[in-house]
Amino acid sequence: MPFDAGVVAEVQAKSDLLAYVSQYVTLKRQGREYVGLCPFHSEKTPSFYLNAEKQVWHCHGCNAGGDLIKFVERYENVDFPTALRMLATRAGIILEESPGAQRRRSEREAVYEANAVAQAFFADHLRRDKKALDYVHRRGVVDETAALFGIGYAPDGWEGLAKALERSGVDLALAERAGLVRQKTGHYDFFRNRLMLPIYNLTGEVMAFGGRALGDETPKYLNTPNTVAYTKGAHVYALNLARKAAAADDTLIVVEGYLDAIALHQAGFKNAVASLGTSFTPEQARELRRVANKLYLCFDGDAAGQAATARSIDMLVDEGLAVSIVALPAGTDPDEFIMDNGRDAFAALINRAQRWVDFKIELACRRISSTFSSKSDIAREAMTVIAQVRDPIERDQYIKAMARRLDVSEAALRQTRVLPFNRQTARPADAPAIRRAPATAQPVSAERDALQLVLARPELLAEALATILPDDFEDVELRGVFERLREHARDLERGVNPLTVFADDPLVAELTRMALASPPLPLEDDERRLALIAQRFERRRDERRLSSIDEEINRLINSDRSVPQTLRDEYNALAASLRGPAGEHNRKEG
Ligand code: UTP
Ligand code: MN
Repeated sequence: MPFDAGVVAEVQAKSDLLAYVSQYVTLKRQGREYVGLCPFHSEKTPSFYLNAEKQVWHCHGCNAGGDLIKFVERYENVDFPTALRMLATRAGIILEESPGAQRRRSEREAVYEANAVAQAFFADHLRRDKKALDYVHRRGVVDETAALFGIGYAPDGWEGLAKALERSGVDLALAERAGLVRQKTGHYDFFRNRLMLPIYNLTGEVMAFGGRALGDETPKYLNTPNTVAYTKGAHVYALNLARKAAAADDTLIVVEGYLDAIALHQAGFKNAVASLGTSFTPEQARELRRVANKLYLCFDGDAAGQAATARSIDMLVDEGLAVSIVALPAGTDPDEFIMDNGRDAFAALINRAQRWVDFKIELACRRISSTFSSKSDIAREAMTVIAQVRDPIERDQYIKAMARRLDVSEAALRQTRVLPFNRQTARPADAPAIRRAPATAQPVSAERDALQLVLARPELLAEALATILPDDFEDVELRGVFERLREHARDLERGVNPLTVFADDPLVAELTRMALASPPLPLEDDERRLALIAQRFERRRDERRLSSIDEEINRLINSDRSVPQTLRDEYNALAASLRGPAGEHNRKEG
């Protein structure tokens, strides 16, 4: 959380979910909960549930859910700090920042101001320079679009911008830190004779510029270096413009280039953004996810574009985004495609987009059948792709399809073990790709119960942390949730709603459902439930230990070595304690 937990707790204490949501949603009381039509998807029968006591909402229709801050984030389409700020303002709380944060913020704001002066200067020069204006028109961009994107032109001199900045009272040392000018003997302009494309943040300030050469000069694009206001690879172009349109069906179209995004907007695809480079970063994925959960990736139809697509998919999917791939004819980019074929043809491409799994499987089948010869290698390669499919029914369909395509038996595929992938995000490196199948239904239900209890009753967290270990969770995702709760134990003690901690988590919907589903019981009953769950975990720990000792003893015996007495003692002690009350009826012999 970027803010002090105390502040979050104060904002939450002084805000009320029911009052806030009621401004936008007509809610009817139903038992302990309130029900209404979900504001996040269109529906005729209400599936939006709100629990005022727990300050939690959840929609059974579209699976959105969370705390009040999450509601504001979703409803206003803003990020966490903005949502918090909005709620704080309503509640009359002044958010304080550390002096360091204040300094960074004011430096950043000064850079925004310098950039605004530069943007106005460039836009003015575009209007006056026939050569630049001709270039824009030749690229098919009409004046109205150029204005919408704040497009400009950096004239060919060495100090036109430097002078203009000075006249506007911008400190040139600051302008240098903003990447607008450089210094040798005096300050000179960084961008010269280039078409200038401002990169805006979500609130409309200019963070940086991309400057395109008008001819074949290199580099084709000169970009603002890293500054306090801009980090290369962390932002997305045109997100400010795409945000509103994206909200309509929760979807963004992602292209590679500045001019691709501009061409799409002009053709009416107002939810288009550009990645500004070849492959995606997790920061960009999170920026996108603030605005929409579904993406159409439309990278250039060349080898580099295809490779970039393949590389980006895992990370985007890992960030919880639903990704489809739009295939462009080889050798074209979206801008050229629209110029040559028109908007309806592009809409048709979008309609034919492939879900990311189909895309990867297609790609993998082509590669596998040309690179691998042994059936077992083929099976292993195929299964590494299939293992990424979370839905077991879908996974089953893919196994069948791939077996046919690669001419290996389904049985061979199903028996193949795969290595975990190399994920780029915080997921533990050893996390298996497929959730480990629980031996019985019971373990996972105990794991869910434990989390459900703590989510609904944060005051039991300390006790849970004292008696349950992360390793007790066999389910990787549930273990991750437990670890997050542990990291934020102090925040939660101070009254932060547990769901706030998971605001960016792809699991948040499931967690809110868990929090809502827990039946309201008196505190003592919940304490007892927790103690029982902890006992079950302890038992499982003993069982695991017992089976590993068992293996160890077998190994020693098989290799004709003696079994140390300490190991025998531990085995006997564990076996005896496991044979206690809970194991009684399982015992075969007296
Ligand atoms: P492209 O080479 O595909 O350019 O690079 P483009 O966007 O199609 O531009 P036009 O149509 O030739 O004018 C895709 C993106 O990669 C980044 C830019 O963000 C560009 O839009 N790029 C490319 C650079 O930053 N620097 C470069 O020199 C080249
Ligand atoms: Mn292009």
